[in-house]
Amino acid sequence: MLQTRRSRQERVKVARNSENILKDCPELETYLVGDQQLAVDIYTVNQMSESLKKSLLDLLEGNMREFYENTPSGWDRSEKSVEMFDSNSRHVVLSKDGEPVAFSHFQFDMDHGVDVIYCYELQILENWRRKGIGRFIVRMLEHLRSIFHLTKLILTVFNFNLAAIEFYKEGLGFSVDETSPESQYYIILSRTNAHLSPL
Ligand SMILES: CC(C)(COP(=O)(O)OP(=O)(O)OC[C@H]1O[C@@H](n2cnc3c(N)ncnc32)[C@H](O)[C@@H]1OP(=O)(O)O)[C@@H](O)C(=O)NCCC(=O)NCCS
Repeated sequence: MLQTRRSRQERVKVARNSENILKDCPELETYLVGDQQLAVDIYTVNQMSESLKKSLLDLLEGNMREFYENTPSGWDRSEKSVEMFDSNSRHVVLSKDGEPVAFSHFQFDMDHGVDVIYCYELQILENWRRKGIGRFIVRMLEHLRSIFHLTKLILTVFNFNLAAIEFYKEGLGFSVDETSPESQYYIILSRTNAHLSPL
């Protein structure tokens, strides 16, 4: 048991120390929406410019502020900024002509003793939705989960964000994680390598 926990922690450590993780998968370096090509980049926090950080926070605030305002903790941009740009964070960013149109904030981590990719954010600019970008980003996170042999891809979603729940559960085959609490405000969803179906 101790051995298993150690090797799980070791896998997280290897993932956290990895650099240039897209180098062996050129098919994930761009994403085509019709005839428009989006650039795909994965950043560690110290590779991000202040203007990129601001653009991602703006995108998040535009999409999510209202949701947060319906919870007791409300919307706090500086608190979000601290969470988003924690030193263990990574960001997948899809951009058009240098402007971010979608991103995911994630971390390689241990969660309840299990090695995971924790997806903290998945945000698509409104007029770029329903074009497969969300699915593409989740596919990319699945790919990272698989190359680092991590057990789960996991995330938290407000339980009143019905479109996102439909996207994850019906669209992508996520299910309620065993660690999901009884909460009025959010649920935890996951995909494990035990029940993966192709995206
Ligand atoms: C939820 C979100 C990430 C989905 O991303 P997307 O790029 O629009 O989704 P995709 O185009 O990849 O959709 C894949 C499938 O998921 C399902 N789906 C996606 N959006 C949906 C919606 N609004 N309602 C119902 N099903 C949806 C569909 O089955 C879709 O396949 P289809 O378009 O062939 O029918 C995006 O709507 C978003 O950024 N919303 C605002 C922010 C947010 O709520 N983020 C999640 C927080 S955890």
